[in-house]
Amino acid sequence: MGHAEPITAGDIVTAPASDFLRDAWAGLDRPEKSINPKWLYDQAGSALFEQITTLPEYYLTRTEISILQRHADDLAQLVPTGGTLVELGSGASVKTRTLLDAGRHLSAYVPIDISAAFLNLTADDLRARYPDLSVRPIVGDFLQPVALPDDMASRPKVGFFPGSTIGNITPANAVDLLSRARAWPGMEAFILGVDLVKAPGVLVDAYDDAAGVTAQFITNVLVRMNAELGADFNIADFSYQASWNAQDARIEMSLISGKAQTVDLAGRQISFAEGESIDVSMSRKYTVDSLTQLAQASGWTVRQMHCDDAKQFAVAVLTPM
Ligand code: SAH
Ligand code: AVI
Repeated sequence: MGHAEPITAGDIVTAPASDFLRDAWAGLDRPEKSINPKWLYDQAGSALFEQITTLPEYYLTRTEISILQRHADDLAQLVPTGGTLVELGSGASVKTRTLLDAGRHLSAYVPIDISAAFLNLTADDLRARYPDLSVRPIVGDFLQPVALPDDMASRPKVGFFPGSTIGNITPANAVDLLSRARAWPGMEAFILGVDLVKAPGVLVDAYDDAAGVTAQFITNVLVRMNAELGADFNIADFSYQASWNAQDARIEMSLISGKAQTVDLAGRQISFAEGESIDVSMSRKYTVDSLTQLAQASGWTVRQMHCDDAKQFAVAVLTPM
């Protein structure tokens, strides 16, 4: 994977199917099979994630929104008048509206997301809601360098990465991403949402809901491979599993092959043993210490950490070291 040139605003393109195929082949060829979780988010996947955010077991979204609402004025004031809010993995930008409502002095909002269809719909909706705000969506992979529009390159800006999406990437990728954000000219602060370590039962329930929406969300990657890459996964032969890995402080989301089988992925045969898994996603949970270490390794200091009363979730304000 990789773009020779940084992606810039205006490149409203979806990743070519060949990127997906190359990634799928590489991940499924390994002894421990895996799929990059960014492929979960086509239009159906993004809609399923939005459904997850409303589930009773998925405490993350409502908890983070309550923290953002409580501190909205202070958070919005981190952006100087005329400054820009740059959001990574913006999805439906629902949480962002809390900051934009409190931040009428902002001049621009740059949502960055891999899911083009969702991003464009969201951008139109925001333009209607905030007519004085310049909304400049960028379709891009936040694991790669992303160039901001020229006219706002060195203007003051604040990063926003809510949702605990940072937990879905490896620790090394998290350091790279935060270091790149730190290096953006004019970057004054970074607002980061992280989910906190808690009782394993609460965590597993959040990622294995009774209604089966998370299972459908994770299985969507097989549905996508069938539809877009001509694979012949028999979806019923794979079951979803969420487990807590205490050592690495993360929930692991996998698809388990119910039997020995061979799947055709665009001409390449992928063999599965009975019980063999495909690692699809992980969701890292943080503590004050692990978040502080992550920030320091990326050139940031944790200036504030806003938590809910039950200490389920944290919205951290990072400032340059
Ligand atoms: N920020 C929202 C959405 C979180 S869902 C919230 O807090 O509710 C995660 C979002 O990140 C999705 O919209 C998904 O499309 C996007 N995403 C996942 N991997 C990505 C990547 N590698 N690059 C850019 N966006 C990505
Ligand atoms: C987007 N991200 C923060 C979600 C999470 O909680 O890790 C993705 C998710 N996967 C399954 N449920 C939710």
